[in-house]
Amino acid sequence: MQKNIIISPSLLSSDFANLEKELKLLEQASVKWVHWDVMDGHFVPNITLGPPIIKKCRQKTSLFFDVHLMIEHPEKYLNAFKDAGADLLCVHAETCTHLDSVVSKIDELGIKPAVALNPHTPVEILKYILPKLYMVLIMSVNPGFGGQKFIPYSIHKIKKLRKMIDQQGLDTLIEVDGGVTLENVKSIVEAGANVVVSGSAFFKHPPYKKRHREFIEAISKK
Ligand code: DX5
Ligand code: ZN
Repeated sequence: MQKNIIISPSLLSSDFANLEKELKLLEQASVKWVHWDVMDGHFVPNITLGPPIIKKCRQKTSLFFDVHLMIEHPEKYLNAFKDAGADLLCVHAETCTHLDSVVSKIDELGIKPAVALNPHTPVEILKYILPKLYMVLIMSVNPGFGGQKFIPYSIHKIKKLRKMIDQQGLDTLIEVDGGVTLENVKSIVEAGANVVVSGSAFFKHPPYKKRHREFIEAISKK
């Protein structure tokens, strides 16, 4: 069960006035991925940031940019996020009428394609496009804000998705986002997650090097 688990800190809870500094601190903390929450005020009731900020930060770090698009019509912005330097682009299934086509376009741009599912969206809808996905993101809170409580039935969804991926003999990653803490991260990984996003439980507890280590330890504890 103890595979290489990736912790992807969500910058939503970081200091937006000092992103360069935050990224440097994450590098020093041996973090490999960083999670960008892009919100449009339509798909979710909050607005955050977009390609220009990501592009500026791209010049400052080589961290893997895990970009979570909580926006309507994501297909209109794929080129802009490619230009901004996204390594992975995750679109919400709920925002794409032609999900297969959007995923193919992301792949054609040379970006790793991922699909996010809101809490109420069943994992079964991904059955046929699973082989095209680098990662599936299970939302364990309703998207829009950091600091919410983990929805317990998400564990069932992670287990179900893990089974689907294994049955098809795929290596698609499972990422879990929302309400992840030192207390529940082990059960999330045991259910089958490979990547865990942490916003408030990470950034509100500096130093980040120590916090990163605490997450790894919480996953490996007996
Ligand atoms: C919520 C975002 C999350 C958020 C997680 O819509 O997708 O990435 O930053 O924050 P925490 O870890 O505080 O729930
Ligand atoms: Zn997110």
